[in-house]
Amino acid sequence: MRFLAIETSCDETSASVLSFDTTITIDSLTTSSSVDMHAISGGIIPEEAAREQLKYIMPVIVEALWKSKYIDDAPYEEKFIASQKILKDSIDAIAVTVGPGLIGSLLVGVETAKTLAYTLNKPIIPVNHLLGHLYANFIQLSTLNSQLSTISFPFIGLIVSGGHTDLLLFTSHNEYKWLGGTRDDAAGEALDKVGRLLGFSYPAGPEIERRAAKVKTPTIAFTSPLIYDKSFEFSFSGLKSEAQRAIKKLGTLSEEQKDHVCYALQKAVFDVLIKKTMKAAVEYSAQSILIGGGVAANQTLIESFKLNAKRLVYPEHDEGLDARIFSPEKILCTDNAAMIGAYALLHNSPEDWKTIIANPELYFSQNIH
Ligand code: KG4
Ligand code: ZN
Repeated sequence: MRFLAIETSCDETSASVLSFDTTITIDSLTTSSSVDMHAISGGIIPEEAAREQLKYIMPVIVEALWKSKYIDDAPYEEKFIASQKILKDSIDAIAVTVGPGLIGSLLVGVETAKTLAYTLNKPIIPVNHLLGHLYANFIQLSTLNSQLSTISFPFIGLIVSGGHTDLLLFTSHNEYKWLGGTRDDAAGEALDKVGRLLGFSYPAGPEIERRAAKVKTPTIAFTSPLIYDKSFEFSFSGLKSEAQRAIKKLGTLSEEQKDHVCYALQKAVFDVLIKKTMKAAVEYSAQSILIGGGVAANQTLIESFKLNAKRLVYPEHDEGLDARIFSPEKILCTDNAAMIGAYALLHNSPEDWKTIIANPELYFSQNIH
């Protein structure tokens, strides 16, 4: 099976061609981002993001289709004609992100996908962006390790992105239960907001990771929100206020003091993410834990997950948690079309193009009991 996947939910315009026989592999992935533009303004301006996407959607799709077959470059006209033939002859279906996200951005991808599906008579598969983040874990980039064959059910999925923080339990590809999410800000949002206070450009996550890694003897500590709460809920807006107060108290911060704020912030966010994910894994006897979303690109988070898993769940003895921890390759953590294709390849459920609509509020719709 070969799918073309399209993702435009936020500030990226991304297209990918993926193949699936026993493993999911990426034949091509092209992503254009307006993030540099938003770095200047300090955040995403929705109308500007959508306008950029309108400009790039066809060139990005054409490039992905072209690269799935050819190595050499060629004039755009030639690529365009070839891409139509590739789509017609060798693509079985089109997958597209239908939500959640920014309405203008989503519309660009959804309406383009529908038009291509209609004119070339291809099935179209709508995909929830958040589930796509988790399914990035099923893509095999290297021939050395096949995560597809080692991920087993039930698994706990932790989504940590700029807009969402959610915990889910999957008992099969088609059955999942939402366990909890954030009451206010998302984990990535907290990092971005405090980063902005520290003068970092958007998105601040990578800069915070880099600075926090320099700290050997921490001098600042923030409260990890809801860490002793028994539910699977999160809350990060109070942490943002605590950081804001600390920054104000310090006055003009030296570069070293900024590093320490980054360390404390990251630790407070990550400790609660790890604790609640592990608690869910124990409670539901999870065989695997899948982490996805932009914040999963943070190596400190992934390493802490792997190192502290047992200690956080069973502080009194060293009993093992029989779950393995998975996170996507770094380039597949932030928004990309390959993750959307991966979800669609494992849920080959096309819908009539007429019923597919962009839904900025899309959340989790299925449930198991
Ligand atoms: O998944 P994503 O690309 O977009 C959304 O769907 O929201 O996630 C973007 C978020 C931003 O908040 C960004 O600061 C964060 O992911 N992020 C990171 C890192 N790279 C991106 N956070 C921590 N460490 C990173 N290395
Ligand atoms: Zn995302």
